[in-house]
Amino acid sequence: MSMPAPTLSTDPRGAIFITPALFADMDEWHRVAAEIRRDEPVMRVEADGWPAFWAITTHEDVFDVSRRSDVFWNTEKSAPGPDIQYDLMQAMGIEMPRTLVHIHGDTHQKLRNITNDWFRPAAVKKLQPTIESIADEYVEKLVDMGGECDLAADLAVPFTLRVIMSIFGVPETDERLMLELTQGMFGAADPEFMGDFADPLASVTNSINKFESYFDELTASRRANPTGDLATVIANGTVDDEFMGERERLWYYIIVATAGHDTTSFAFSGGMEQLLRNQDQLRALQADPSLTGNAAEEMIRWTSPVRSFFRWAQEDTEVGGVPIAAGDVVLTSYPSANRDEKVFAEPDRFDITRPDANKLLSFGLGMHYCLGSQVARREVRTLLEKVLARVDTIELAGEPQFTGAHFVSGVKHLPVSYTLR
Ligand code: HEM
Repeated sequence: MSMPAPTLSTDPRGAIFITPALFADMDEWHRVAAEIRRDEPVMRVEADGWPAFWAITTHEDVFDVSRRSDVFWNTEKSAPGPDIQYDLMQAMGIEMPRTLVHIHGDTHQKLRNITNDWFRPAAVKKLQPTIESIADEYVEKLVDMGGECDLAADLAVPFTLRVIMSIFGVPETDERLMLELTQGMFGAADPEFMGDFADPLASVTNSINKFESYFDELTASRRANPTGDLATVIANGTVDDEFMGERERLWYYIIVATAGHDTTSFAFSGGMEQLLRNQDQLRALQADPSLTGNAAEEMIRWTSPVRSFFRWAQEDTEVGGVPIAAGDVVLTSYPSANRDEKVFAEPDRFDITRPDANKLLSFGLGMHYCLGSQVARREVRTLLEKVLARVDTIELAGEPQFTGAHFVSGVKHLPVSYTLR
């Protein structure tokens, strides 16, 4: 069972922001988004079962809303979703999420400070040898797979998972569990990832409960035997000179584990899909690996795996000349902002040499700017470089498939055939 398509009382094109199935055809999605940017860039969307919101679709306006975090707050409902999701959670007595992206102001800053140093560019640089050796390990699996594989499911998903696990410092044996849990939470609307659970909420709840017991054990172990890994930093993290609360800690683990996995693998797989369709660019990259950094940036711009966040206006204001009242909800559409023709020359052309790729908004901006952006960039760059150095030729061997999910989504299956050097 997938999430039903909502019915709109406003411009029906607004359905692209909230209908999971529409994210399974991104060419069509971007065609509609371009029309919206042209006709009504700050678009009112009223849909059955959803909070009414303003879709923010231009680069300038997503930038503006993200920067003005004094006016536009993150809340416990930051992840866009239908009302029923939250009503059911409340009715069932399930606690509302309180990860970094669900909180605001001082509390957010103090919690973010716990890991800020860990994620700074200089610190992340030290992870490079680990990322490289994991990439080597997975690229060698191409040999075992004998010339054909699913580059998304066989390579990108396990690679990005292993990197995030090794950052935490948890063993390879727990990978499968983590994969199920992440997909249970973020892929919750996609039928393929629902496991035994008949509805998305049950799947999310089940994931949270399993996360809880897993990370409780991890915390106890890192307090008893601190190591230098991220799990140790979180387990021993303090706010105002006291250990952060048990729930805060759990939510911290959850945000890093979930935000750092599918997002990065979708960026890699979706970017590879484009390279496979543009063999001239693929060969240029093989011939000149110094293009890899910009290519990775373009892959992350193009794919924009986080589709949007909600923010709540705290006072009467305006965005792009449109009045927004206190209490109104706005939705930051990152994929749309990343194809804004006012910022990106020929935005619908995938181009690894484009000079404006670094204007991407895929990681958001402002006080909630993606904590893991440097890790994600290194992962995409490293895996790309290693794969292209190992294969001689690589081609699409079937139609790629996208997840139908409205929050975080991208290419989930990428069948390829290849020859090795
Ligand atoms: C290509 C991959 C990724 C994309 C597209 C992405 C995107 C985003 C976006 C859009 C936000 C919200 C920004 C905002 O509200 O302004 C975010 C926040 C966050 N991301 Fe990422 N992310 C990626 C990879 C990662 C990785 C690898 C990690 C961890 C290692 C990570 C950890 C986080 C955390 C902890 C936050 C919350 C920050 C806060 O609210 O203060 N992300 N990410």
